[in-house]
Amino acid sequence: MRRDGFQRNAVSKGLGFDDFFTKKPDNRRQSFGTGQGNAIGRILERCKPRDLRLTKSNEKFREEGIEFVEGYEDIDLHALNELFVQVKFPRREPSRLRMALKNSYSVLWIRYTKPSNRFVKQGQLLGFARVISDGVFYASIWDVAVVPSWQRIGLGRGLMERLLQKLVDDGIPLITLYAERDVVGLYEKLGFKSDQRGMTGMAYALR
Ligand SMILES: CC(C)(COP(=O)(O)OP(=O)(O)OC[C@H]1O[C@@H](n2cnc3c(N)ncnc32)[C@H](O)[C@@H]1OP(=O)(O)O)[C@@H](O)C(=O)NCCC(=O)NCCS
Repeated sequence: MRRDGFQRNAVSKGLGFDDFFTKKPDNRRQSFGTGQGNAIGRILERCKPRDLRLTKSNEKFREEGIEFVEGYEDIDLHALNELFVQVKFPRREPSRLRMALKNSYSVLWIRYTKPSNRFVKQGQLLGFARVISDGVFYASIWDVAVVPSWQRIGLGRGLMERLLQKLVDDGIPLITLYAERDVVGLYEKLGFKSDQRGMTGMAYALR
């Protein structure tokens, strides 16, 4: 069965669907070969395409007034900060937030497209996630958030699946994130592992 996201991306690069799953991984292995025997080296060398399919297509979401929008240009930074505050992320200074979005590898957000009603406005931001990356070896996903009254109906999964699909399609073999403890289950369902080949995530944070 054809998977709409992969099919679209593969075709847009002039690759046949089968090429995507056969030729491209070999190219990736060659270009990523590092000769390292450690955990990261093994991940980079054994990069294989994943069978990623969208649980729910863009068309189905669109019927419900949900649109996934790529890029930061049309984001209302005030609304984004309000979303952050609603989900207990820190509010960020707007000019620094804009710079952070501009410097991100990928920004994906959710917009409500149907006419306004008493619960939601047309054009309202309902969810957000972004990726920082070198575009080749590593990517990490940050600031995944869905408006509380819109949670648990598949929007978080929708954001994550679309970001993962893009990163896999771009051939990036190692994708990381920091998970809040109570949402580890969400990321595990998407294939993330907390102890990836013996590696422990660490952070140096200024307080
Ligand atoms: C985390 C968050 C983005 C998930 O968004 P969401 O739209 O509610 O998630 P979905 O409805 O797409 O759920 C996707 C799957 O994850 C599961 N899931 C969602 N939230 C979960 C939670 N808190 N704990 C365990 N599993 C969870 C769902 O059961 C669902 O499984 P299914 O697809 O098999 O039915 C959202 O809860 C949120 O914004 N939380 C506050 C901010 C936050 O903690 N962000 C994560 C930072 S690491």
